[in-house]
Amino acid sequence: MEKVVSGIRSTGNLHLGNYYGALRNFVKMQHEHECYFFIADFHSLTTYPTPEDLHGNVKHVLSEYLAAGIDPEVATLYLQSDIPEIPELYLLMNMNAYVGELQRTTSFKDKVRSQPNNVNAGLLTYPVLMATDIIIHHATKVPVGKDQEQNLEMTRKFARRFNTMYKTEYFPEPSPYNFGEALIKIPGLDGSGKMGKTEGNGIYLVDEPKVIKKKVMRAVTDEGPKEMNQEKPEPIENIFTLMRAVSSEETLEFFEEQYNTCKIRYGDMKKQLAQDIIDFTEPIRERFKSIYSDDDYLRKVAEKGAEKARESAAKTLKEVRNIIGFKPF
Ligand code: TRP
Repeated sequence: MEKVVSGIRSTGNLHLGNYYGALRNFVKMQHEHECYFFIADFHSLTTYPTPEDLHGNVKHVLSEYLAAGIDPEVATLYLQSDIPEIPELYLLMNMNAYVGELQRTTSFKDKVRSQPNNVNAGLLTYPVLMATDIIIHHATKVPVGKDQEQNLEMTRKFARRFNTMYKTEYFPEPSPYNFGEALIKIPGLDGSGKMGKTEGNGIYLVDEPKVIKKKVMRAVTDEGPKEMNQEKPEPIENIFTLMRAVSSEETLEFFEEQYNTCKIRYGDMKKQLAQDIIDFTEPIRERFKSIYSDDDYLRKVAEKGAEKARESAAKTLKEVRNIIGFKPF
């Protein structure tokens, strides 16, 4: 039995990429391990949501976790901001994180490039907060998508550095976990990049069927293959990747064959893909509606999760304070 921690940033509704990269694995892991799943609402502040949006997004994502099948009686499900021990450990960990190494992370460099007028310190120390989320529960396994590999590498480095500095083996070094499967990256519908990277290139778990249809039918394609067995350009490969995630083997094989023999009609393929996404997301969409309208239930879930998570976090803080030298007289 491993200790597992993972979270998703609450910046908006969850899309299929969040589901395949994280949520699906959370649901699978909850029965096998001791799991802590949370909503990274402190992390979402780097994008400056309004108070209304922040609150709405957190409620939405919590409902989506539950609708996707996380059982709050089995896993510990909580909001990051309900655990005051997290900012405390984050402060302590910041003392051992170097500005240079934080500036060199790919995600930070991307932000400096994409939003040069808002390079806030929260963005710089994002990996420290993420490391804190993980080590506060002594996690050994972290189910995350491919884009989080570097952050996890930083987590291991911070844990190791703490151990070396205080001559202890206190924090384990966590590794990514994916059931031995390759990390999948769900592409967006705009022909390049991953889902969620740009506004409107994603399909949300709770999108209504007609919205899903419209989005898929507008996905970028080309004029079709000219030669037999021709390699697929990125936008076409992306449509196949989506199909691989949600459609049956037969459906996939059928369209592969159509492509390879230059008979493919993208309109037909997209119609089938849209239908398969609609069928696949339907149970989540339906459960979501009743959960989202039940504030009493959501409050109880959050309270219970916070209580369980704080128990584990408070124990760590007590020990860490002691290791560092903050002790009673
Ligand atoms: N950085 C992750 C993301 O963007 C979210 C996250 C925050 C996280 N803290 C974490 C993931 C701890 C795993 C463990 O999706």
